[in-house]
Amino acid sequence: MPEIILIAAVAANRAIGKDNQLLWSIPEDMAHFKALTAGHAVLMGRKTWESLPARFRPLPGRRNIVISRQADYSAPGAELANSLASGIALAESAEKLFIIGGADIYAQAMALADRLEITEIALNPEADAWFPVIGDEWRVSEKKTPSASGETGFAFVSYTRD
Ligand SMILES: NC(=O)c1ccc[n+]([C@@H]2O[C@H](COP(=O)([O-])OP(=O)(O)OC[C@H]3O[C@@H](n4cnc5c(N)ncnc54)[C@H](OP(=O)(O)O)[C@@H]3O)[C@@H](O)[C@H]2O)c1
Repeated sequence: MPEIILIAAVAANRAIGKDNQLLWSIPEDMAHFKALTAGHAVLMGRKTWESLPARFRPLPGRRNIVISRQADYSAPGAELANSLASGIALAESAEKLFIIGGADIYAQAMALADRLEITEIALNPEADAWFPVIGDEWRVSEKKTPSASGETGFAFVSYTRD
């Protein structure tokens, strides 16, 4: 089984998206996401797949796994599965599987995760998609606060289980 890692950019109020889009554009966070996930498998919900700009779909240099309950759904360039368990099973031989959202998938996958890679974003935006509460079983194992080139403050926080 691969190591299962949830990776998300999460506002102070746990917001992660609105109208099937992200709520910010932070180049350092995009670079961080790319560096961590490069060469590994990524699994996402159908809505997050559809939210990716066409030029990044599939995310290059990574195995893209999309889950949908629609039997006839098509996601060119990605592998499709009809449940979270079967999506994870597709990555059985991978070293690492990154669960990359969205809200629905994070809520279901949190219990299965070995590690969380959270970019904490210092904003409290209006949203319609939220990251789950990070429970007491999780411990911060590393926190980096790079200097932001833009106005929005952020920190890269890794969590492992107790
Ligand atoms: N800030 C971040 O790091 C981050 C990361 C990713 C996404 N986001 C944001 O999150 C939002 C999208 O999240 P969301 O919760 O609306 O959608 P989502 O989690 O991306 O996708 C939900 C869809 O996944 C499929 N699905 C869910 N559970 C399933 C299961 N157990 N088996 C099979 N298929 C399953 C269903 O597709 P069907 O309806 O086709 O059956 C469902 O409608 C957007 O705003 C996006 O920008 C933010």
